[in-house]
Amino acid sequence: MINILSRFKTSLMFARYFGRNFRPDTFFAAKIYFYLAKSLNYAEYLNRKRLSDSFAIQNKKIKHNEGYYIGNFKRMKDGKKVMGAINYFRRKHKLINWKEIEKKSKKPFLLKKEVKLSKQLQTICIPLVKIISKYIGCYPVFLRAELWYSPNKKNFTGRSQNWHIDGEDTKQIKVFIPLEKVDKFSGPLNFIDASNSYNIYSNLKKNKIIKTRNTKLSDDIVKSFVPEKFIKKMTMDLGEYALLDTCRCYHFGSRKDKKPRKLIFLHFTSPFAENFPTIFRKPHLEKSNEEERLLYGYVGQDYKVLKSEKIKRWDFKFY
Ligand SMILES: [Fe+2]
Repeated sequence: MINILSRFKTSLMFARYFGRNFRPDTFFAAKIYFYLAKSLNYAEYLNRKRLSDSFAIQNKKIKHNEGYYIGNFKRMKDGKKVMGAINYFRRKHKLINWKEIEKKSKKPFLLKKEVKLSKQLQTICIPLVKIISKYIGCYPVFLRAELWYSPNKKNFTGRSQNWHIDGEDTKQIKVFIPLEKVDKFSGPLNFIDASNSYNIYSNLKKNKIIKTRNTKLSDDIVKSFVPEKFIKKMTMDLGEYALLDTCRCYHFGSRKDKKPRKLIFLHFTSPFAENFPTIFRKPHLEKSNEEERLLYGYVGQDYKVLKSEKIKRWDFKFY
């Protein structure tokens, strides 16, 4: 009986995370899935669209054909408050035992420490969410926040140190906030804007060199499509921040370099990223206001979290 029940739960979960389990990682399939998930959850979409429309047009900072934006918190209205929150995380970053994290890490070139939801984190998110909403076209979902430390000591092939596009969504924004100046010697993120990235992807796909967005590419392949000057380096001073749509822009980071890199990392997706349930979905945080519920209410419903934490409880063997 327990076995039947467990199988039923597994099948239910498999269907709930339809996008994660069935959607191929191509621009086309991501778009089709987005429209499907949007139609299945249209009331939620309308709520999110209404919020996004209420934000001032000045927040439309990320151009569609570029897919990135580099801004400065100090020029914002609540810049001082945001800088205070960044300093709070700078102190936290110093107290972390990165050597211990390195021992357990699957990515020794990029060490991460999860940041839980807090007032300081929300202070940083508030101005960014408006910009991200205007780009994605609806109020986004906060997926996670982390403190990052890239030692930049060694290169690994076939990993995120090689050119690739992320596969989670049609559009998403990863936010990079320096805790120390990131210059060209700090293993900065390298990226190519959205329209040039799409040209590279289409050419490679047409010539049957790649099947998915996330296929890792060598520098030589990328440079055969775009001149060196098209490759941008995400260097930033303290107070600056970078927003990058990693689902539309080719990128790599944390390569071997002279200095380490220290960042706050935030990840926002559309509500219909493959990470979240396609059907029977509901944001948590019932007691918060609607905006907070829609923004933070899917934390912990990411398939990656289910995989690492709940897999035993759900007996979820598909991942
Ligand atoms: Fe990536």
